[in-house]
Amino acid sequence: MNYITVNSYKELSAKAAQLIASVVTLKPDCVLGLATGSSPVGTYDCLTEMYEKGMLDFSKVTSVNLDEYVGLSGDNDQSYRYFMNENLFNHIDIPMENTHLLNGEAKDPEAECKAYDEAIKNAGGIDIQVLGIGRNGHIAFNEPDEALIAPTHKTGLTADTIDANSRFFESADLVPKYALTMGMASIFGARKIILLANGASKAQAVKELRNDEIKTSNPSTLLKLHPDVTIICDKEAFGE
Ligand code: F6R
Repeated sequence: MNYITVNSYKELSAKAAQLIASVVTLKPDCVLGLATGSSPVGTYDCLTEMYEKGMLDFSKVTSVNLDEYVGLSGDNDQSYRYFMNENLFNHIDIPMENTHLLNGEAKDPEAECKAYDEAIKNAGGIDIQVLGIGRNGHIAFNEPDEALIAPTHKTGLTADTIDANSRFFESADLVPKYALTMGMASIFGARKIILLANGASKAQAVKELRNDEIKTSNPSTLLKLHPDVTIICDKEAFGE
């Protein structure tokens, strides 16, 4: 694994955007795997700026997102579809029909998840996957557990994740308790992975990522098995 340590969130965002931009430049019809949450917001701002300056063209790009809350429609302002539209898609020239998120309102979640993995495969696989990391080491919504699930699936969220995400909701009670998420195999199919970690709240999870152990109680540690992972983290998250 390759580590890039930076001094600020601004620098983290610029570095991540550079890596994504290089993939889009080299392969204009690439498949971007995207994440929501606080970590990639600055990256999406940088990509928008590059697009506005005429440096990037997203017109042939396809995107797939990691996860979506169960029960929220795309126009709910807490849904990840809404987040992506607001933070990236509405500001660049990616055709909306090329942007894919799991449908949190699917009547048959199992069929929805199966079709999602199939669609990723049919699109040629993910060229670069952006990940954040949970305080508990989760990636996407693959939560710490005795066993992790390979394909895209429906999952319950842990109390820690509900607590962490409650900052976006009026109260913790309103945070959905279930999500649809890419599984470890869906994520590992990506040719390149970048993981963004900033702030002291991620230090413990990153410490475990930096040692030699692989354990399902910190799902991010499985990334040690992937051949092309870059961790971009600030000094607090790196433990300095
Ligand atoms: C979001 C996702 C989550 C977040 C993680 C970190 O699509 O899959 O795994 O990346 O919870 O969230 P933030 O960036 O808000 O600290």
